[in-house]
Formats: sequence, structure tokens, C-alpha cells
Amino acid sequence: MRLLRLRLRDFRNIAQAEIEPGPRATVVFGPNGHGKTNLLEAIYLLATLRPLRASRFAELPRFGEANCEVEGDWEVAGIERRIAVRVEGGTRQAFLDGKRVQDLEAYFGGISVVSFTPDDLLVVKGEPELRRRHLDRAVFNRFPAFLAESRAYGRALRARNRLLREEAPTELLEAFDGPLVEAGARIVVRRRRLLEELEPRFRQVLSSLTRGQLQGSLRYRSSFAPPGQDEGAVRDALAKALRDGLARDRGRKHTGVGPHADRLDFELSGRTARTFASQGQQRAIILAWKIAEIENLEDHLGHQPLLLLDDVSSELDPERNRQLLAYLDAFHGQVILTTTDPSHLLQAPSGQTRYFSVWEGSFAQVDPDGLSGAAPKGQNPE
Ligand SMILES: Nc1ncnc2c1ncn2[C@@H]1O[C@H](COP(=O)(O)OP(=O)(O)OP(=O)(O)O)[C@@H](O)[C@H]1O
Ligand SMILES: [Mg+2]
Repeated sequence: MRLLRLRLRDFRNIAQAEIEPGPRATVVFGPNGHGKTNLLEAIYLLATLRPLRASRFAELPRFGEANCEVEGDWEVAGIERRIAVRVEGGTRQAFLDGKRVQDLEAYFGGISVVSFTPDDLLVVKGEPELRRRHLDRAVFNRFPAFLAESRAYGRALRARNRLLREEAPTELLEAFDGPLVEAGARIVVRRRRLLEELEPRFRQVLSSLTRGQLQGSLRYRSSFAPPGQDEGAVRDALAKALRDGLARDRGRKHTGVGPHADRLDFELSGRTARTFASQGQQRAIILAWKIAEIENLEDHLGHQPLLLLDDVSSELDPERNRQLLAYLDAFHGQVILTTTDPSHLLQAPSGQTRYFSVWEGSFAQVDPDGLSGAAPKGQNPE
């Protein structure tokens, strides 16, 4: 799988751009605030139909513009396909080969992206919501149908919460429990399936990154679902929990139980990393998760996902950085990295790397030979 060409119009601060990423590595460099993350955000949106940063779609069109568009040509299993996404009026529309598509699995068609941003490093110690979102990103990647399922759940949940606020009669509330229970059980089972696939790899990668020092595990905590992946059993348990919690929900005017309140916890030697992990251990945990996720996708897709790395080198300690670059050097898929300072990325990844500079939302391909002096003044490589 390769991203061959990318076109952007009015996306954040990028009025217009056409970029042909390198077959393996692409380095995008420029000073703070000039559009590096915006470019990755556009690619992420194109490949997942979801925003990379926690934002509403309405934030994406360039200030003063009503809409924006990202279009990309991809090669997947020897076949070239063109997908595009257009954001207008706070919603997004997906296009495959120029035609609007509703069938999102056809749209994705084997295209897959894993992002790694400085925000990921906050996940281990952050609020449960952050880890849920982190988990769900990985579930979307692994099971594209999850996008429609989680949206169905979100709709049903919002409808139930609205009825709770309106103090609607119980019969009306119960009429909405069906879709909520159906989609909710599916979400729990998808999450558990992904975690079951990921955990052995995660353990193994974390152990090897830390030379056997860290024993990690992933724990999914549901307040209602019995262990396991029997969807019927999870459905029954959710239906019962909603009935049992109705008086409480009415009091709080909000649904207290369901996959939106379940938790993912990282553990080190059986203790929750949220409370106990050091900075370095948190970074190792996230790096191990990302590598495990990439390897797992590769196994199931039959090809490597596109990797988007947003300025992570500057956030990782030198040891993790070295491990990341070593991993990338052996990685045969395509990777797009951003940095304020290309000089410390010059050695790796080797070979077919393309460099683009960005200035006020405009991108220009540059010759790596002229780059050594291109680092912004006053910044020293680590
Ligand atoms: N909808 C929008 N329209 C126009 N400009 C926008 C929009 N949204 C964000 N921006 C601008 O984009 C710029 C930020 O771009 P981006 O986050 O890509 O920077 P960056 O190059 O990644 O910087 P850093 O190195 O600090 O991470 C800011 O100047 C911001 O004001
Ligand atoms: Mg940035």
C-alpha cells in the first residue's frame, strides 16, 4: 500500500498543495505553526474519515472558506484508487473514484494509517477518555466497520440522554434501548478482540524495548459486561444494567453505564501504569503499543499501514528515539515524518527519502544535499 499523490485545497492554513510522498520515507520540516501537523491531519482524515486532533469538522476549512477538500491516489495490492473527502457545513463526505460513497468499507478498501503524535504520550496517565479514544482509534484501524457501529452507538446514546433530560416516560426510554444495546455490545466485543490480538505483541515488544525490565499488560474494564466475547451475553448484560440503572440515570440526566464508560488500563507488573509509570516507562508503553499495532495490522491486512509521525523525535528520550529510528529503518512500509529540525533525521530512514519544507502552508520539495544548513537557527539537534 502506498500513498502516491496527495492534493489539498483550503485545509486549515494550506490553501493549495500537491505532494508526491516518497515511496518509503517523507520528511516534512519547517518552523512551528507553519502547517506540518495540518498536513498529517489531512492525510489522517483522508485515510480514516476521522479528525486526528480532537476537533469538530467545522474547524478544518481554511479561515474564511466554506469547505475544504483532500484527495489522494493510493496503490493498494497493485491497484490504483482515488479517494477524496470534502468537509462542508460541519460534516464530511467521502468520494471513491470521483463518486460519492456511503459504503465506508468500500471507501477504505485496505487503506490504513497509524499515527504517532506527542499527544499519544499523554495517554497512559491521562483521563480514561483519552485511553478510550486511543483504543478506539486502533479498533477503527483494525475493523473499518467499527466506524459506522460507533456512530450508531453515539446516536443512540445522545437520543437516550436527551430523553433523560426531558424526563420522558419509561416506555419511551426503553424503546431506545434496543439500538443502544445492539451497538454497545458490538463495541465491547470489537475492543476486546483487538486487545486480545494486540496484547501478546505488546508484552513482547515492551519487554524487548526495555531489555526484559517491563512486564506490561492491557486491561479492559467494563462496569457491566461479563468477560469474553460472547456478543449475546454482553447485550443481555447491557440491557439489564440500563434497566437497573434507570433511576440513577434519571437523577443524573445522563446514561451512566455502557462502553462509553468502560476503561482501558495499561499495567506494569500488574499495577496500573496510570498511577505508577515514570515518564520513560510511559513513553516505552506507547511506543510498544504503536509497534504492536502496526505489526498486528500488517498480519491481518497483508501489508504495512502508512505511518504518520508528528514531531515525536523531539518528545522521546534519546534511548526511545534510537529505538524508534531503528524500527523505522527496518520498516518496509511508507512513513511520513514531521520535524522542526531535519538534521537529526538525516541519517534515517535511509534510501528513498523525500524532503519537503513548509512555510505558511506552502510546501516545496527540497534536495537533501542542500539541507545540512537548513535547520532553523538557534535549535540544536539532540
Ligand atoms: N482552519 C484554519 N484556517 C487557517 N489556518 C488555520 C486553521 N486551523 C489552524 N490554522 C493555523 O495553522 C497553523 C498551525 O499549523 P500546524 O499545527 O500544522 O503547525 P506545525 O507546523 O505543526 O507547528 P508545530 O511545529 O508548532 O507543531 C496555525 O498558525 C493555525 O493558526
Ligand atoms: Mg505540529
